[in-house]
Amino acid sequence: MSRRQWLDRFVKLSATIVAGVLSVPPLVMLIVPAFRREKERWLKVGPLSDFRLGEPKAVTLAYQRRDGWVIRTVRTSVYVVVLPNGKVKVLSNICTHANCAVRWEREKQAFFCPCHDGYFAIDGSVKAGPPPRPLQEFPHKVENNFLFVRLS
Ligand code: FES
Repeated sequence: MSRRQWLDRFVKLSATIVAGVLSVPPLVMLIVPAFRREKERWLKVGPLSDFRLGEPKAVTLAYQRRDGWVIRTVRTSVYVVVLPNGKVKVLSNICTHANCAVRWEREKQAFFCPCHDGYFAIDGSVKAGPPPRPLQEFPHKVENNFLFVRLS
């Protein structure tokens, strides 16, 4: 091998190694966010004193959510219910039949879904109509008299 050939191969090999090393960080930045998992997050709903026995209250929650490379603000509504036995439930406001929004109807003492006349009892169980399952219940906890919910 002549000196010229050796030098040519050395330069090409060096350039390949440098290009390979420099391409790793951008590739990592491109690929890693797609596999990053969301941490478990508790959202503050409000002080427990805001919620009354037998009167479900709608609360809108906003939080940041990462979808791959995109971070967006998500708003969702839940109902906080205090049952006669004092137990607190945080229920989704989305009907389990076809995902319409339900609303609390005080006169009927039920959650009403206007899409197909579905009714849910105050504890989220199905009372009438086509919904196949109770309203989704979210895990919650109370700390220092504040209610927190974990949305899935
Ligand atoms: S979507 Fe609620 S009853 Fe059909």
